[in-house]
Amino acid sequence: MNCKELGIYVHFPFCKKRCLYCDYTSFTDLNLIEVYLNALKKEIILKSKKLKNRKVKTIYFGGGTPSIIKTNLIENIFLTLKNNFDINSLEEFTIEVNPDSINKEKLSFYKDIGINRISIGFQSTSNNILKTVGRIHNYDEGIHAFKLTKKYFDNINVDFILGLPGETTSTIRENLHFIQNSQPSHVSYYLFDASHKTPLKSLLDNGKMVLPDDDFLADQLDLIYDFLDNLNYKHYEISSWALLNKESKHNKLYWNNLDYLGLGVSAGGHIDHFRYVNTSSLNKYIKLIDQGIFPYEYKNKNDQFQELLETLFMGLRLFKGISYDSLVDRFGKKLTDEVVQSLKINLKSYLCIDDCIKLSKKGLDYSRYVFEKMLDIHL
Ligand SMILES: C[S@@+](CC[C@H](N)C(=O)[O-])C[C@H]1O[C@@H](n2cnc3c(N)ncnc32)[C@H](O)[C@@H]1O
Ligand code: SF4
Repeated sequence: MNCKELGIYVHFPFCKKRCLYCDYTSFTDLNLIEVYLNALKKEIILKSKKLKNRKVKTIYFGGGTPSIIKTNLIENIFLTLKNNFDINSLEEFTIEVNPDSINKEKLSFYKDIGINRISIGFQSTSNNILKTVGRIHNYDEGIHAFKLTKKYFDNINVDFILGLPGETTSTIRENLHFIQNSQPSHVSYYLFDASHKTPLKSLLDNGKMVLPDDDFLADQLDLIYDFLDNLNYKHYEISSWALLNKESKHNKLYWNNLDYLGLGVSAGGHIDHFRYVNTSSLNKYIKLIDQGIFPYEYKNKNDQFQELLETLFMGLRLFKGISYDSLVDRFGKKLTDEVVQSLKINLKSYLCIDDCIKLSKKGLDYSRYVFEKMLDIHL
């Protein structure tokens, strides 16, 4: 993808009910949807002004739960994007859906407006786990949602989380059998991240719930890798597996540190070395947009060093890593060599540094440590 191309992420921050483990920005007062979407339309128009020459390659409608938004409102947002950006070369258009809020009318509508990839939040096939973490659907509803979606789309991702309370070898085996039987084109299998302040974290801190232990999870991860490998899924990113040619084009923009626009509350973006995150306050967002002000909570114009570090940081998530030559092309040989030298000193056994820079087996097992350590690199 060249630098004139663009991805667009749109955040729909509403859910019927909050899951106990989740710290993404979303609100349960659904009366606020319309006023939010009006502000979102204004942000789309504001942001598009300097990006008219960009060719949009991917759009991602994420959340929250975009599938609880009425189709006429989704259409409105899509038309605002279409009227303000060049989407003639669009290759991938994804929407996240929850099993409890999808039906054939919505799926057929998604197809009509050009959506060609559906991401279903499954999380687990275990009814016990789903209930424990506050999901409002059960396994049967998940299966039903998947089968229905398959009638309309062949490009389907399913999200799973490994290591929620109640996880056992048999819950993991069930998840893998679901994948084997239903053959989604893409699987995201995230390791549960308990570091954020969530209701589940409080329950864990108070000893009211317990997590499976780390050694057990490390063994189970190896089993998941082997199982999906045998089913011909390519493990192309730390948490992502895809059948042939079904890797997520949009997510690869993030991992290659290319340009994408983030729109909506709490959305982040990266355009021409400018990185930003929008405010996660709904009131602030609406107020600032009404005044024609970009609602940034964080913004920074990266210098070459920061941009290079970010590129490594994101690119190390990819199994093939980042090619040394591409770094030299983007950042010059001198700076690239200085940073690579520092990586060799600080993270030697965690990385393979050759034509490509990538995580070693040890680096994969301890990826969170590697990413923390990379934040300390200074020249
Ligand atoms: C922001 S959610 C939106 C998807 C959709 N609302 C749903 O619930 O299925 C995107 C994905 O992030 C993952 N996720 C959310 N919180 C997580 C956590 N604490 N640890 C690991 N993965 C998490 C889940 O797999 C979820 O499907
Ligand atoms: S996991 Fe999905 S449905 Fe649950 S609170 Fe987070 S965004 Fe909402």
